[in-house]
Amino acid sequence: MKSLLMTSLLILTSARLTAGISWLGLTVNGSSVGWNETQHCRLLHALVPDQQQLCRRNLELMRSVVRAAELTKTSCTHTFRDMRWNCSSVERAPHFSPDLAKGTRESAFVFSLSAAVLSHTISRACSSGELPSCSCAPPPAEQASPEFRWGGCGDNLHFGLQMGAAFSDATLNSRRSASPAVRLMHLHNNAVGRQALMDSLETKCKCHGVSGSCSVKTCWKSLLDVGHVSAQLKARYLSATKVTARQVGTRRYLVPRDMEVRPVLDTELVYLVSSPDYCTSNAKHGSYGTIDRQCNKTSSGSGSCNLMCCGRGYNTYTEQVEERCHCRYHWCCYVTCKKCTHTVERHVCK
Ligand SMILES: *[C@@H]1O[C@H](CO)[C@@H](O)[C@H](O)[C@H]1NC(C)=O
Ligand SMILES: *[C@@H]1O[C@H](CO)[C@@H](O)[C@H](O)[C@H]1NC(C)=O
Ligand SMILES: *[C@@H]1O[C@H](CO)[C@@H](O)[C@H](O)[C@H]1NC(C)=O
Ligand SMILES: *[C@@H]1O[C@H](CO)[C@@H](O)[C@H](O)[C@H]1NC(C)=O
Repeated sequence: MKSLLMTSLLILTSARLTAGISWLGLTVNGSSVGWNETQHCRLLHALVPDQQQLCRRNLELMRSVVRAAELTKTSCTHTFRDMRWNCSSVERAPHFSPDLAKGTRESAFVFSLSAAVLSHTISRACSSGELPSCSCAPPPAEQASPEFRWGGCGDNLHFGLQMGAAFSDATLNSRRSASPAVRLMHLHNNAVGRQALMDSLETKCKCHGVSGSCSVKTCWKSLLDVGHVSAQLKARYLSATKVTARQVGTRRYLVPRDMEVRPVLDTELVYLVSSPDYCTSNAKHGSYGTIDRQCNKTSSGSGSCNLMCCGRGYNTYTEQVEERCHCRYHWCCYVTCKKCTHTVERHVCK
């Protein structure tokens, strides 16, 4: 009885700790929902009450939210494909394992990425005309130079940041969710993600004029791809700072654990709990271990057999790969190819 109570308490607290990203669970069935009736907001158990309310008021945004959940998952797994922790646990959303259900470095990355991707997706949905409540960004305040004028259709970052933050931070602003320190951590990391997104705004231009002479140029602000933002955030994940919560009067804030004299920077990801090395399987820590993971014999980076296999060594096997080859162009207009098989060596960790 007592252990049952403990277990359900554990599940309850870990559910609260990840409430902010439970919407990533929309990848499961989110795209099969019509999102045209307010009751849809309760359907998939992926939205927490505060988000359900946002959903009911902004049903038209939900397709962007579903797309953001899918993009977060694919860009996280792509960015971490050659790391020991490879983001496979986001597949379990909305039920997360302890690597994401505690205040770890990994959860710092996933929160910041999901916040950035959500604002990205909404900003893009505005400029592509999918949303009735927003459209292209207004022309930037900065002066256009004599060489160009503002025009075209810029990504509406302002709207994306506003709606994205309302959604990503919804649960974290409520005092009922998680512990104060974890709440502060997630709020901070969400903001770091959105800051990285703001930094990815670029000026793009198009030339006009006689036969591409570029005598007239129109420019607008456009966001870089989510993959770019994800790579930026991975660098910040690698240099993330361990923090602790301090109370001053009624205010609580985060300070670096080893260097309390300086404040936490707006550009750094922060975490509260150290992670395991993810070398061996350990359910308690949410580590799947690296046995049978593929590694790269010639690389010296994180995907190298040495680092990936944690010194345990690796097995080598060969695989037949089929490829198109000896392709010939026939006039006019088709190409014929032969099929060639060749052997590749693969290495997997012991
Ligand atoms: C998703 O949809 C499938 C098929 O419609 C259903 O069997 C499954 O229970 C749904 N999963 C969730 C989490 O709603
Ligand atoms: C929602 O969309 C479905 C399918 O497109 C349609 O059958 C249904 O009537 C719509 N509901 C509302 C309230 O418009
Ligand atoms: C990620 O790691 C898990 C656990 O080790 C493994 O099962 C999975 O195949 C890996 N995914 C990729 C894309 O390497
Ligand atoms: C292995 O690493 C080397 C050097 O970094 C790289 O050139 C090669 O493409 C990698 N091989 C695979 C299969 O990823």
